[in-house]
Amino acid sequence: MRRASVISLSFTSCLLIGFLAYQLNQREAYGGKDDEDEKVHELMEKTHEGKKSPWKKAIQASQANPIDWATINQALPRLADMSEALVTTKDKDVRDAADGYVAAVQELAMQANKRDTVRARAALTTLSDSCADCHYKGGPGGKLD
Ligand code: HEC
Repeated sequence: MRRASVISLSFTSCLLIGFLAYQLNQREAYGGKDDEDEKVHELMEKTHEGKKSPWKKAIQASQANPIDWATINQALPRLADMSEALVTTKDKDVRDAADGYVAAVQELAMQANKRDTVRARAALTTLSDSCADCHYKGGPGGKLD
């Protein structure tokens, strides 16, 4: 009986120590990742969230008839900043998943420069599709609400 309780006590302390170590590990892992992604996270929100975000404004502008080039040109530097943050982040998974977004922004800039309405609209569709590549399908961006 006594022996059993000693065993059970040491088993419990093992669990406890294991649990604490796990917690600490999680916190460190999260802290590290958080730092790396801070810029990406911040710009993701600023660039894409809400009706007044550069991304939403550019989409709206592209649906206008005739297309509103001034608004698209205003959004472009912000989209380019986002691209820059994605390709320079320390998080390799995010960097590796950034190609679609970066290419679409470049394509949009080129077509806006040429004032090609059809291709600029297509580039914005490609840009919107690129969100899903990173945010869904198990991508590193994680699911959006
Ligand atoms: C290459 C990967 C990648 C692409 C492409 C991408 N995102 Fe993100 N997104 C991220 C990462 C990484 C975060 C930060 C996640 C975190 O810190 O929890 C994020 C965060 C966000 C957030 C903030 C979520 C929150 O929890 O506050 C929004 C909104 C968002 N992205 C929208 C978009 C939209 C819209 C697009 C496409 C126009 C897009 N993202 C394209 C990787 C990506």
